[in-house]
Amino acid sequence: MRERNLKSRYSANARPFESLYRKYDAWYDEEPGRSLFAIESRAVRESLLFTPEKALEIGVGSGRFAEVLSIRFGVDPAVNPLRLARHRGVSGVAGDGERLPFRAGTFDTCLLVVTLCFVENPLTVLQESFRVLRPGGQVVLGMVLEESPWGKVYRGLGVNGHPFYSLARFYSRDVIIQWLKETGFSSVGIVSTLFQPHGKSTYDPELPRLGYDPGAGFTVFRALKPET
Ligand SMILES: C[S@@+](CC[C@H](N)C(=O)[O-])C[C@H]1O[C@@H](n2cnc3c(N)ncnc32)[C@H](O)[C@@H]1O
Repeated sequence: MRERNLKSRYSANARPFESLYRKYDAWYDEEPGRSLFAIESRAVRESLLFTPEKALEIGVGSGRFAEVLSIRFGVDPAVNPLRLARHRGVSGVAGDGERLPFRAGTFDTCLLVVTLCFVENPLTVLQESFRVLRPGGQVVLGMVLEESPWGKVYRGLGVNGHPFYSLARFYSRDVIIQWLKETGFSSVGIVSTLFQPHGKSTYDPELPRLGYDPGAGFTVFRALKPET
């Protein structure tokens, strides 16, 4: 009963992640999910300006990225995947990125991997990330950009009723940078990866490239909360 009440308070976009959580999580265990995860998690790791000590993943899901990046805290409106995250050593709290249940300045790192495209108010989530970061803290966003080849494929899948992508909104590099600056973040850095096309059965390892590349399927933004 309590759980049902919790769910109803949170984002409707989390519902498929709640009901299809086992399927979503199992995708990482087989190809092509396994090799894609290796490519994407490497790019996220290399985007970090410093090694996180107190980090939060917003939209942590089942904790796959958090686990390999040694991130111990997560928040997600979908409570079922949080149980899987717990088995991976990630303490998950049921909550919404738009109203983070943490005090200002709690974390040194906020990570969002393919989550900003599912929240109702991305700018509010960035403002909340800014609030819970300490001065000098980093926000890291793993994104599939609107203009990228993978963004175009996912948008097409969404139009055809895909249970996850039909809820996603894809944004351009320019919009993300504008939102980060508007929120107060500075020193925006970008890393690009996944230059192989969608639809392969397995993916060759890739080295992430520094800087923006519209041909990348996965783009990571890192920005800092100023010290003063
Ligand atoms: C594509 S999944 C990514 C999960 C995880 N980061 C990963 O890469 O495996 C998007 C996640 O965002 C979560 N989500 C949806 N709305 C949210 C919100 N308002 N605040 C925080 N997370 C949200 C979903 O429940 C889901 O777990």
